[in-house]
Amino acid sequence: MRHLLTLFDLTPQELRQILATAQTLKSKLKQGERPAILERYTLALLFEKPSLRTRVSFETGMNHLGGSSLFLGDDVGWGKRESPSDFTRVLGQFVDAVACRAKSHERVEQLAEYNAVPIINSLTDLCHPCQAIADVLTLLENFGEVKDRHMVFVGDGNNVSRSLALACAMLDIQFTLARPDGYELDQPWLDRIGEKYPNAKMNQTADPIAAVETADAIYTDVWTSMGQEAESIARRAAFKNFQVNEQLLEAAPKTARVLHCLPAVRGEEITDAVMDGPQSDVIEQAGNRMHAQKALMIQLLRPEWIAENISV
Ligand code: CP
Ligand code: NVA
Repeated sequence: MRHLLTLFDLTPQELRQILATAQTLKSKLKQGERPAILERYTLALLFEKPSLRTRVSFETGMNHLGGSSLFLGDDVGWGKRESPSDFTRVLGQFVDAVACRAKSHERVEQLAEYNAVPIINSLTDLCHPCQAIADVLTLLENFGEVKDRHMVFVGDGNNVSRSLALACAMLDIQFTLARPDGYELDQPWLDRIGEKYPNAKMNQTADPIAAVETADAIYTDVWTSMGQEAESIARRAAFKNFQVNEQLLEAAPKTARVLHCLPAVRGEEITDAVMDGPQSDVIEQAGNRMHAQKALMIQLLRPEWIAENISV
């Protein structure tokens, strides 16, 4: 059974097929077409953390494809009312896939362990693969081809930057993380990327101004992620020179695009002027979550549709 726990679960070719499918579905939607590729399929959403983009994009995306979704709240008692094995295997009797947002990555791995139904990681402390697919889709739309482009992430070595670094490695995009000391991408994750993609161009620096000089895209995320609230004062101090603001943008090529996974803390990691400025793609990027996840769900549930209809 296919799961999407991290982007290591996809090959670069599959990622390219998902991106091409997303572009096709997006242009069809603009023409008013909503092909019912997942007619009568059901997606369950099991979320332990808040969400706007991920929840709504999965629910509307599934609806466009002719399927339905149901959001499972606290009352289903995941991890509380019955064993994880019973919970997951029973869920597998009813639904075709589960999109899961969990406090720890192990919780999502545990759901996948019983192979009852495909599990889609919709954000954990480790990574956010669905976000990264939409991010590289946004880059692809801007540049036509993404190979050898330079993605500069200014911020934390967190769940979002881990997945983005891996997506970049898969598509031959150079990736730089500009971060303060102590907030690097962790070595086990970098080692996994290096083992699978030995030619990946991954850099880390404490100098954001130098990093963005050759940037095609400048990406940022909150300094304090969900669950890290107790560290927010220390993080605000550590990241104060890592704000994506007009001064930083001055150091980058005028063609550089600005990305943010959202939600943003305006005035912390990004200023209003940059977020709402002409180089910003953040709203389109959020919209791309839906197109990317529609394609991902087809890849997991009806890969033959992609094989028959999409050429990369
Ligand atoms: N970017 C993202 O995952 O947003 P939500 O937390 O609103 O789903
Ligand atoms: N790094 C952020 C991303 C939110 C979409 C968090 O985990 O809170």
